Amino acid sequence: MKQIENILNNYRQAVANCQKIADLLVIKADCLGKNGKLNSILKDLKNLTAENKKQLGSLANVAKEEAIKLFDERLAQLERAETLQKLAKNRLDISLTNEVLATGLKGGGLHPLTQISREVEDIFLKMGFDILDGPYIEDEYHNFSALNIPAEHPARDMQDTFWFNDMVHLLRTQTSPIQIRGMEQKKPPFKFLAPGKVFRNEDVDASHEMAFHQIEAMVVGRDIGVPAMLYCLQTTLSKVFARPVDVRLRTGFFPFVEPGFELDISCQICGGKGCTVCKQSGWIEFCGCGLIHPNVLKAGGIDSNEFSGFAFGMGLDRLAMMLYGIDDIRLFHSGDLRFISQFG
Ligand code: DAH
Repeated sequence: MKQIENILNNYRQAVANCQKIADLLVIKADCLGKNGKLNSILKDLKNLTAENKKQLGSLANVAKEEAIKLFDERLAQLERAETLQKLAKNRLDISLTNEVLATGLKGGGLHPLTQISREVEDIFLKMGFDILDGPYIEDEYHNFSALNIPAEHPARDMQDTFWFNDMVHLLRTQTSPIQIRGMEQKKPPFKFLAPGKVFRNEDVDASHEMAFHQIEAMVVGRDIGVPAMLYCLQTTLSKVFARPVDVRLRTGFFPFVEPGFELDISCQICGGKGCTVCKQSGWIEFCGCGLIHPNVLKAGGIDSNEFSGFAFGMGLDRLAMMLYGIDDIRLFHSGDLRFISQFG
């Protein structure tokens, strides 16, 4: 009995002095563990008289209960201390926000282009598309050659390119290189969306920026043709604009699709009746699209006898301008709070 009392006394002291959870666990095991001090005493009980056994057994049990309680209490204290220590170390000063708010300034929000891009992404995610990303600094293989635009091809001049000095790397002029990167990662059938910033060495005016945004889509599978493409574009555009949108196709040339099209949508400003924005035609040029050229599928290691697909690339800035009635693309990067704060 004296021994039990001693063990418990030592344990009480050790637990009270313990400063680390890891140490506490060791102290507990040392006393209460299978081969711990209390258990080894209980093992000796078998050599005692029934009366003594009972006495000692109940004393040991009381001691055990107290030891467990002491452990639980100390553990809770140490955990709390640890949390407080962490909080003190990673202290976040939120008082500034209150001060700023008190001056009447609004908190931050998402840029309108980010908002629209996310909305479009959500629509496509619900249809089972993946979202892919690609690098701003591309190489000429992914941005041009693999997209069926060989060196010296006049189509390279369609896009004024920012080249790096090595004349191999460039700022991507389009999101289409993500088609190649997507095919390098995926096995058909697949469908993905790739939104992102693109760069062209253009003269800046109300409808042209050097850095703007595109959303690329690529769908590859069996028996995928123009009807699937049209259906996909028309349904998603109606969701983006939250009303039925008419679309029409005109033939258009893009080296990475065959046949290639320009897709027009019914003018969302006048509803197709004719206005200055649509130059009285009722239609607005919206995006390039087409069936993926066999050379492009081949560059992605896909057998064009077995698989086909469609792709499209739309201008996100243009979409935002149409949705919100913005008449100058330069506003997006202007940093003008009067403009940007209208979008919450
Ligand atoms: N990359 C083209 C551009 O920037 C847009 C485009 C056209 C993308 C047709 C496509 C497509 O995927 O099929 O002008």
